[in-house]
Amino acid sequence: MSSKKKTCIVLGVTGGIAAYKACELLRLLQKRGMDVYVVMTKHACQFVAPLTFETLSGHPVAVDTFERPATWEVEHIALAKRADLFLIAPATANIIGKMACGIADDMLSTTVMATKAPVMIAPAMNTGMWENPATQQNIATLVSRGVHVVTPATGHLACGDSGAGKLEDVSVIAERAIAILEKKKDMLGLRVMVTAGPTREALDPVRYISNRSSGKMGYAIARAAMERGAEVTLLTGPVAIQPPQGVRVIPFMTTQDLLERALENVSGQDIIIQSAAPADYRAKEIAPQKIKKQGGTDMIIELAENPDVAATLGKNKRADQTFVGFAAETNDVLAHAKGKLEKKNLDMIVANDVTAPGAGFDVNTNIVTLITKEDMLSLPLMSKDDVADQILSGVLKLRK
Ligand code: CTP
Repeated sequence: MSSKKKTCIVLGVTGGIAAYKACELLRLLQKRGMDVYVVMTKHACQFVAPLTFETLSGHPVAVDTFERPATWEVEHIALAKRADLFLIAPATANIIGKMACGIADDMLSTTVMATKAPVMIAPAMNTGMWENPATQQNIATLVSRGVHVVTPATGHLACGDSGAGKLEDVSVIAERAIAILEKKKDMLGLRVMVTAGPTREALDPVRYISNRSSGKMGYAIARAAMERGAEVTLLTGPVAIQPPQGVRVIPFMTTQDLLERALENVSGQDIIIQSAAPADYRAKEIAPQKIKKQGGTDMIIELAENPDVAATLGKNKRADQTFVGFAAETNDVLAHAKGKLEKKNLDMIVANDVTAPGAGFDVNTNIVTLITKEDMLSLPLMSKDDVADQILSGVLKLRK
């Protein structure tokens, strides 16, 4: 018999009618060789008895931190540590809200907060609850922290409504979970530098010129590269999202700043992915004091051209390095992107039409075309995390 430790999935079950489907999900995961431990919320126990999961999993089921013997206090940390993947299915609006806000008031919410394992949730709820801006904002928060979300399916719901909110098919959830666990460490030994976010060019001590870049695409690339085993340096402009843990973060403010940080770091890198949106112009002169209203006359601010970071780095690209740039366009997307690929000496350019719904600034999804000198791959609408993986796979293909 093999002495190899089985991969452990901690399965969180919350209180929705779809809780019964978690039994089948557990079985599917076991069939794929996983050792599954179950944590239930109190409400989940109203739908399925803990004994069912205890019998199926062959392990005690954790329910509540305070009602079980004191050993569970320690046990929830043990479970959090044991998990190779933490999967919550079905995930109610309540657990999603608690996770987004950092509330830990029962066994499941404390355990998921303590884990360092990848976390995946499969929401299931009434359509109105799913579409509620609070839920959507909580989902966006979790996605930005790297939580994998299996978007609910659309169909006939137990409450009688029809719409989005149905737990995705358990076989799909199981496959997504396995895919995360089997994610290849195919970037081990590679050093990747990612630039992300906007720049800020000061006009005076209180005002600046900037753009709508949120940094989400670059952060997703940094996270994905790290998960695939790369050593990641993230050069970031001022953004409102948290960098993934485990990457080296170097902040920048202006385009000149970005250029200097990039030049300091570029020679040690194998792959450079430039998703930052540096301002092409800066104020010719920064007013030392706050600029006062002119009282009825127009104001003209003279701008000076900034260096092109990608083009500057591209000039000294070594044969062993792979450079990727982005082209955020509003018209003639492919033609403009191909021009930039050439002009900036890039190996790949990721083109997107920022005016398309679901693409561009401040959303968690994107629609892109990956363009290389020989090839072009148009991808459908997908999460920025999935776009990140596609870009990295494309880069590895180029380096073969
Ligand atoms: N870029 C750069 N330095 C700049 C402007 C852009 O390094 N001053 C990089 C971006 O990080 C991106 C690529 O060049 O990878 C394309 O950026 P984009 O703003 O689309 O192109 P520009 O060259 O600025 O052209 P334009 O604004 O005229 O479309």
